[in-house]
Amino acid sequence: MKTLAVISRKGGAGKTTLSINLILSAYQAGWKTLLADIDPQRSASDALRARAEPGPALAEITAGKLFHTRSQAAHDAYDVMLIDTPAAPDADVVLAVNSADLCLLVCRPTFLDIASAARSAEMIRRLGKAGLIVLNQAPSKRGGLEPASMRQAIEALRFCGLPIAPVGLRSRTIYQQAIARGLSVGEWDAQAPAVQEIDRLWSHLAALLALDDRGRDARAV
Ligand SMILES: Nc1ncnc2c1ncn2[C@@H]1O[C@H](COP(=O)(O)OP(=O)(O)OP(=O)(O)O)[C@@H](O)[C@H]1O
Ligand SMILES: [Mg+2]
Repeated sequence: MKTLAVISRKGGAGKTTLSINLILSAYQAGWKTLLADIDPQRSASDALRARAEPGPALAEITAGKLFHTRSQAAHDAYDVMLIDTPAAPDADVVLAVNSADLCLLVCRPTFLDIASAARSAEMIRRLGKAGLIVLNQAPSKRGGLEPASMRQAIEALRFCGLPIAPVGLRSRTIYQQAIARGLSVGEWDAQAPAVQEIDRLWSHLAALLALDDRGRDARAV
């Protein structure tokens, strides 16, 4: 089983939006999936409960239950467990990072998010964990070029010592519409440009985590 932790100590960076879309990508790829919601706000749980369709399993737990939940999920042959975390307290974020094979550090391309991300990246490295920065709520390209704010953000994030995902999420209302029904952006509108960014990001993560189709097919026989 592979465990992902989605973190950002800045509130509202997009942890839950990314968590829901990625766990649904994994689910739709045929993996046995579990979303562990350790945020007392329970936003990810609200989203998954709004789903009319079948979907990933949900564990609404405290951070203190992560170790047990992860062991149980591995025992129950889950393939992917994704942890949606709160912005605080730090102790809960540390427990999530320590439970993860890969930490996704969500960051908007703004000065305050980048400063916060630099500190979180340092924490991930100190704990000896693998991390990847995912830019979210990015402004759209203009004339095929990244806006200055994006170029500056990418430049500043290079000093964090963690790789930046080759694809981030743009600011798009479809993310807000789809999550209200517990749907991925692809389920909401298969033709929307957001679908490509989520698909490309999931493919990148699946490759990093060695979640290839051969593994799943082997499990199915
Ligand atoms: N790429 C995006 N485009 C447009 N809106 C977005 C995007 N990502 C997130 N949002 C919106 O921004 C708000 C915050 O997103 P979200 O709840 O996912 O952040 P969060 O990091 O989980 O917040 P919290 O720290 O409260 O848990 C929500 O209203 C969400 O719909
Ligand atoms: Mg959240």
